[in-house]
Amino acid sequence: MEAATLKKIAVFASGRGSNFSAVLEQIKPGNIAAEVACVISDHVRPPVFDIAADHGIPTHWVSRKQFSAAEDYAGFLVGLLESYDVDLVLLAGYLKLIPSPLVKRYRYAMINIHPALLPNFGGKGFYGMKLHEAVIESGVKITGVTVHFVDEHYDKGSVILQETVKVLEDDTAESLAHRVLQVEHRVFPQVVKAFCEDKIHISNGKVIWEK
Ligand code: GRF
Repeated sequence: MEAATLKKIAVFASGRGSNFSAVLEQIKPGNIAAEVACVISDHVRPPVFDIAADHGIPTHWVSRKQFSAAEDYAGFLVGLLESYDVDLVLLAGYLKLIPSPLVKRYRYAMINIHPALLPNFGGKGFYGMKLHEAVIESGVKITGVTVHFVDEHYDKGSVILQETVKVLEDDTAESLAHRVLQVEHRVFPQVVKAFCEDKIHISNGKVIWEK
């Protein structure tokens, strides 16, 4: 039997990289038919680069500040991803807005994970502990995780998967973040696997999962 071709993944991340690790854990034993081609960050040396280095994955620091013109920045990123022949881009803790030429080039092939139930608690500024504090402060009883395709706006693209997490009366932002993160680590690899098996389709801008 012919072996399935491995999809090539580029990961954009700026922090500790636990979601990146969760995906790698499923790639290593062959549960996800993919390889991580590179990790890109707007930070010079984020912790996620150490995880990549441990696995022999190339890392790139690419910041808007390195370019005088916005189009040169976007063009560089598109060229970089094309040089790796990337099929799928993952945003795993990446806070910068993706330049629109890159969104256009990888439309429906760029996926973000967000630690709340979009469209609530999304958009610029809703990240990290601030987000979970806002969730607790609002009094909602349910939060969760959203995995979605990336479009030109923060946290706005077509939803691929959502899973709920109960907000408990004695939750702190930290305890809630911890339970949400556990769900993230389960569902992100699940979506990546489905994408790599060509099981995620788009119809009128909505995501349809192939059974
Ligand atoms: C996660 O909560 C993710 O949902 C959000 O940023 C955080 C990244 O955490 N977009 P990590 O770097 O994957 O540990």
